Amino acid sequence: MIRTENLVFEYIRRDEEGNVEGITRAIDEVDLDVKPGQFIAILGHNGSGKSTLAKHFNALLYPTEGEVYVDGMNTEDDDHLWDIRQEAGMIFQNPDNQIIGQVVEEDVGFGPENMGVPTEEIWERVEESLKAVNMLSFRKSSPNHLSGGQKQRVSIAGVIAMHPKCIIMDEPTAMLDPNGRKDVIRAARALNSVEGITVILITHYMEEVIYADKVFVMDKGHIEMQGTPREIFAQVDRLKELKLGVPQVTLLAHELKKSGLDLPEVVLSREELVQELIRLRDRNGK
Ligand SMILES: Nc1ncnc2c1ncn2[C@@H]1O[C@H](COP(=O)(O)OP(=O)(O)O)[C@@H](O)[C@H]1O
Ligand SMILES: [Mg+2]
Repeated sequence: MIRTENLVFEYIRRDEEGNVEGITRAIDEVDLDVKPGQFIAILGHNGSGKSTLAKHFNALLYPTEGEVYVDGMNTEDDDHLWDIRQEAGMIFQNPDNQIIGQVVEEDVGFGPENMGVPTEEIWERVEESLKAVNMLSFRKSSPNHLSGGQKQRVSIAGVIAMHPKCIIMDEPTAMLDPNGRKDVIRAARALNSVEGITVILITHYMEEVIYADKVFVMDKGHIEMQGTPREIFAQVDRLKELKLGVPQVTLLAHELKKSGLDLPEVVLSREELVQELIRLRDRNGK
């Protein structure tokens, strides 16, 4: 679905005369391969290059060196710009900047309308997209009256209405309260598992990563680690060096194991820890 080959991106600062004042290498030789239907998470502390990388996935930025392919199309090929933007939709942090309509259904219909989709089909798409993010009952509402999490789900519906193959979400939950975060992540997981849409979730909330098929951890523009959530969260110390944590429950299980409890190397969820503790209790015959 998305492939980068030896991707390098440099931000170049210039003074008023146009002389180069400084260069920041935000992406440094990144090779990444996302297969159709995968749920991918990208982790990394602030400034590690996540957003810069994401902007290459729908041709908002172009490589300084190397190549980016979306569904086999080179992003530098201008003939494919609109195909790429339609196939790889983007969701940003702040839902307020992404909603333009005065009424929810109007906002969601805006994308397909711009694509020239016939009116009748637009309404079908609006309905199915709002359903997919569990927001259909708000179709006649004004976006101004929605919570942050609801607004973010409306922006996601707006992207889905364009029938993308892939959605890239750049810290979609950063500005939301815990409930809003849960709903948005639930919607993202449903798009992936029910609709088969490839999801690339950029986040710094460790708990949001545990559902991913694969996690990439970025640092200083590099991919520093990659693997399943279980493989990644087994490396508590390495993550600490990269200024990242692990989910709280994973840390707790890690501490319990260190103090002698016979627990697995990695525990990812509360349910899993409960099961493991019950197993220990039953084994001890109590
Ligand atoms: N518009 C910009 N101009 C110059 N440097 C930038 C710009 N945007 C980001 N950077 C720099 O590029 C690096 C990566 O930033 P970014 O991709 O935003 O990281 P992240 O999303 O992981 O926080 C940082 O050093 C940041 O300061
Ligand atoms: Mg960012």
